[in-house]
Amino acid sequence: MTEKNVLTEIREDIIIATLNRPEALNALNDDLMDELSKVVDQYEENTNLKCLILTGSEKAFAAGADIKQMQPKSYMDVYKEDFITRNWERISRCRKPTIAAVSGYALGGGCELAMMCDFMIASESAKFGQPEINLGVSPGAGGTQRLTRFIGKSKSMDMCLTGRMMDAKEAESIGLVSRILSNDNFVDDVVEIAKEVANKSLVATMMTKEMVNRAYETTLAEGVRFERRLFHSMFATKDKAEGMAAFVEKRKPKFKDE
Ligand code: CAA
Repeated sequence: MTEKNVLTEIREDIIIATLNRPEALNALNDDLMDELSKVVDQYEENTNLKCLILTGSEKAFAAGADIKQMQPKSYMDVYKEDFITRNWERISRCRKPTIAAVSGYALGGGCELAMMCDFMIASESAKFGQPEINLGVSPGAGGTQRLTRFIGKSKSMDMCLTGRMMDAKEAESIGLVSRILSNDNFVDDVVEIAKEVANKSLVATMMTKEMVNRAYETTLAEGVRFERRLFHSMFATKDKAEGMAAFVEKRKPKFKDE
């Protein structure tokens, strides 16, 4: 598949996927999501890659699902083609780490796509919102569920019912984004954070990610039980032996992802 709507760049063991529909502020359509799914497949298959950064332009991460693509669609159309469910949530099922680097607008499906990543880093100019209510519909790519789990009922209702935008500061204060970075060299600075993630044992990272995600799917007791089982299993990895030996020997660990 030729890259058109999603550009990729590999920097050592980091892959940067950049949404690229500038004429529509990176509005999400099936072609773009097909390309993004393919990129995530390639990332998972390539054992040299350890972290994926999903980003957009300075003006827009993504201004939502493509309203012009949705406008002519009927109920029967979206039901039969399994709109959104077909592959729009592919990145949420990625087993390796993913970071959303958000500048500018992350609205509707754009905010929802960013929330599908493991964590979100915002530039000072980022703006988040679920404005679907202004179009006579609701969020449809998990917004009512993920946003509510991340920021709580009151804020989520506020965002979904008024359709207003929130800035990066507000998003950080309520835990939607993990940190805010300057607009200058934004993606390069996110790459530095991705390197920190990539330098760890990928096995431990993947299992840790599975544990954190389980917190959204289960009770506390079951979640802790799940964590304990995976934690115990890590004592069988070479990376556990290396990580702990390196600490004791006062040197940097050399993980082999085994
Ligand atoms: N779909 C299709 N095209 C879009 C778009 C979208 N979501 N957002 C922006 N565009 C297009 C505009 O139509 C415009 O195209 P033309 O030049 O051909 O007219 C171009 O991108 C530039 O946009 P604006 O001229 O509107 O730029 P602006 O700076 O004045 O405003 C904005 C920026 C506030 C983000 C505004 O574009 C906007 O409100 N966009 C729509 C946001 C929205 O409603 N998102 C939710 C979509 S529904 C959804 O996402 C459902 C879901 O949950 C899956």
